Amino acid sequence: MQEQSSGSSRRLPKIAVIDLWKSFSGKEVLRGVNLTVAPGESLVIVGGSGAGKSVLLKHLIGLIQPDRGHVIVDGEDLACADPERCLAIRRKFGMSFQEGALFDSMNVFDNIAFPLRRHTRMSEEEIAERVRECLNLVHLSGIEKKMPAQLSGGMRRRVGFARAIALKPEILLFDEPNTGLDPITAAAIDRVIMEMRDKLPVTMVTITHDMSSAFRIADRIAMLRDGKIVAVAAPEEFRTLPDPYVQGFLAGQPVDEEVA
Ligand SMILES: Nc1ncnc2c1ncn2[C@@H]1O[C@H](COP(=O)(O)OP(=O)(O)OP(=O)(O)O)[C@@H](O)[C@H]1O
Ligand SMILES: [Mg+2]
Repeated sequence: MQEQSSGSSRRLPKIAVIDLWKSFSGKEVLRGVNLTVAPGESLVIVGGSGAGKSVLLKHLIGLIQPDRGHVIVDGEDLACADPERCLAIRRKFGMSFQEGALFDSMNVFDNIAFPLRRHTRMSEEEIAERVRECLNLVHLSGIEKKMPAQLSGGMRRRVGFARAIALKPEILLFDEPNTGLDPITAAAIDRVIMEMRDKLPVTMVTITHDMSSAFRIADRIAMLRDGKIVAVAAPEEFRTLPDPYVQGFLAGQPVDEEVA
């Protein structure tokens, strides 16, 4: 952890989202999102389909620019940073995208080695060692030579995680890590995420519509609705929030924002 224990810097959030607004073709998707993520925290963002969760996550890493508002990472505003600083800030992130996004023409080794070859001067031996470490962390040792098409959905997801942690990011973003997986595989994926949280010095932001998954992996849960964060609470407190929308969501009746 790079936070110093002196003075106010100890309380500096890892990420602060301040009054973030974004519309696409006149449709307001984010309408003043405010959110902070503490260093080392696992924050889970929940919300209906089309609520803007992926759009919010992409703002954190600078893949989408806001119409208004700020994303501050370790005290630095993404919008104000010069291109070099921007790159350095982006390097703090590892992201696992909604669909895993492995390169289908590359085997597992080359997929995980890709960011190491691109962004470091590591030797092939060092790269091989790091690929081994990353596969160990996601419990997939020895599958370096397999092609993505030979893997199950859960394995592909975990190879995606291994690639996301290859450069030792300070912040990990997971977009729907469980979607499309059976409940047992989904729970296994959650265990891998929890292990990464416990073993790595990372801050995590995960998006899901799966509440059982949210309760397993979150230190805090935030609900995105109507383009705003309408509730943030620790899991046990979140369960007791009186908001009818939150209660509906907990009961497994999330409202689809696109058709609401
Ligand atoms: N690049 C884009 N251009 C235009 N509209 C977009 C773009 N990205 C997202 N949107 C729109 O923004 C809204 C929110 O999309 P987003 O993908 O963030 O939803 P989500 O909460 O992640 O949903 P899901 O749970 O289904 O993944 C949708 O109406 C979507 O069509
Ligand atoms: Mg999404």
